Amino acid sequence: MRIRRSRLHLILISFTIGFITAILCMVFFRPSFATGLRLSRIPIIFGKLNHNPFSTTGMASGSKKPVIVVGSGLAGLSAAYEALKAGASVRMLDRAPKPGGNSIKASSGINGAGTRFQHAQGISQDDTFYADTVRSAGRRFTEASPAGVDRKALVELLTGRSESAVNWLADEVSVDLSVVAQLGGHSVPRTHRGGGKLPPGAAIVSALLEKLKANPNFSLENSAEVDELLTGSDDAVKGVGYHVSEGEAQELEGAVVFAAGGFAGDAHGLLSKHRPDLAGMPSTNEARPASHGLLASLGAAFVDMDSVQIHPTGFVDPKDPGSAYKFLAAEALRGEGGILLSSTGERFINELNTRDVVSDAIMAMQHSTVGSTRQWDVTLLLDPGACEVAASHIGFYVWKGLVQKKKVKDLSPEIIASVDKYAALVASSSKSESVDPLGRKAFGHWRLPPGEANRDEEVCVGTVTPVVHFTMGGVAFDTQARVLRSKEGGETTPIAGLWAAGEITGGIHGANRLGGSSLLECAVFGRIAGAEAAKSVVGV
Ligand SMILES: Cc1cc2nc3c(=O)[nH]c(=O)nc-3n(C[C@H](O)[C@H](O)[C@H](O)COP(=O)(O)OP(=O)(O)OC[C@H]3O[C@@H](n4cnc5c(N)ncnc54)[C@H](O)[C@@H]3O)c2cc1C
Ligand SMILES: *[C@@H]1O[C@H](CO)[C@@H](O)[C@H](O)[C@H]1NC(C)=O
Repeated sequence: MRIRRSRLHLILISFTIGFITAILCMVFFRPSFATGLRLSRIPIIFGKLNHNPFSTTGMASGSKKPVIVVGSGLAGLSAAYEALKAGASVRMLDRAPKPGGNSIKASSGINGAGTRFQHAQGISQDDTFYADTVRSAGRRFTEASPAGVDRKALVELLTGRSESAVNWLADEVSVDLSVVAQLGGHSVPRTHRGGGKLPPGAAIVSALLEKLKANPNFSLENSAEVDELLTGSDDAVKGVGYHVSEGEAQELEGAVVFAAGGFAGDAHGLLSKHRPDLAGMPSTNEARPASHGLLASLGAAFVDMDSVQIHPTGFVDPKDPGSAYKFLAAEALRGEGGILLSSTGERFINELNTRDVVSDAIMAMQHSTVGSTRQWDVTLLLDPGACEVAASHIGFYVWKGLVQKKKVKDLSPEIIASVDKYAALVASSSKSESVDPLGRKAFGHWRLPPGEANRDEEVCVGTVTPVVHFTMGGVAFDTQARVLRSKEGGETTPIAGLWAAGEITGGIHGANRLGGSSLLECAVFGRIAGAEAAKSVVGV
């Protein structure tokens, strides 16, 4: 009892001394005391002082404004990391109940050119990343863009800093990125992931979170939705307004890094505004309204908003066919030997064509509307050879109920006919007796024979539909990750106090993003945004 009471006294005394000192610090060292007091929350001041009420450095950081990071995907986490390193405190807010955003779902990996992991796999030189990116960006790369958006400089940064981004994650954050794969559109293998079971997005996000949470200057609040960007009389951003669940509106003052992700999951909102032809389509992104409007309300400029990436195959879950959110059916399933069949059971495309060609072929067919979701009814079928090679993927999809194992004899007669026809083609292809009229030349690990011999064999089948996957466009920003505002006469000017990174930004990918380049943009530009924002609050 006595111990308790004396401890209570000590705490009260610490609080009082700490609080008075903090107020004094604010009065003497901060000319903008009035706004500081209005916007800073008293509990925040306490939170800071609690760490070490008597340390003078603690005091200094207690009176300094934080870097406020909106969004806990890879862009936000990267920004937080660098801001902490530069000596700022970081308040991260995310409206989702859990951190990680869409970043946590990334399954292929992160690009890096010239890395030691490439060297270890015999790729001694990689100087084609910039050219690959520009080629993929297409006509957008040379198209007029808002003044201040220097596409060339942005892509130079993205590709030029890719090796150091991979090294940073591997060496400082301790993420395994030792496996390098070659994705479509890349001249050499340069997409890095780990050798373990954890997919790269989850591995990177969890390792970074662990590092950040160990730092007392970092705090993360989930279920905290930012609904306003606060500005001063000079139009500079001063902080954010947010609310926690049903809670009261709160205000927080500081330098703002906006890392709120893309709008692929906003099927009935921003997506239908910029791409009415895609309205109501399902997505591999969480179904959620976009936050771009907060930037638009400040007069921010946007670029390439109608450049949207479609992935041809997202799984339709038989338990919830109308869900707007679909699980991605990895490209590898087709690569290893899978075929696609129309709703009438026929093959209709070379399954190994690029994403856009396969998607276009599917979307030219009749769609169906399930609930408020517009989708297509395509069967993805893998023979036993392909099922086996893709076992690690397939096991998960079967467990999720997205893929079923079925004997050939239990399939519809139309599908059995198509399977026989394709199996005969594959069997004769080695003797080069026939060619696929649809142009497929590689058959992966398909080994199923045609005819009666295959009826008791087990194939893997699932229903797939094209899905909205990624939004290339976004807010205009510069090489210092500053958000640009349109001025009269087509000019732009950076908005003071506001930085952005990740899928929310535009101008890097042009018409088409290369696989592995979005995690990369999050790391490269997130780090820049965090460091720049920290400079503004820490001073020099
Ligand atoms: C299935 C899938 C697989 C992918 N695979 C790869 C891959 O292998 N390689 C690759 O490079 N890319 C891949 N991508 C793309 C990549 O994952 C994303 O583009 C990228 O991670 C986006 O990161 P971000 O930090 O910008 O946004 P996100 O990770 O989406 O995070 C944004 C966060 O902001 C929060 N937020 C939004 N608005 C507010 C608000 N108003 N207030 C508070 N919080 C808010 C959201 O809740 C969210 O948590 C994949 C995407 C998907 C969906
Ligand atoms: C927290 O911030 C203070 C003040 O900037 C700094 O002295 C301290 O080293 C920081 N702590 C960590 C773990 O970064």
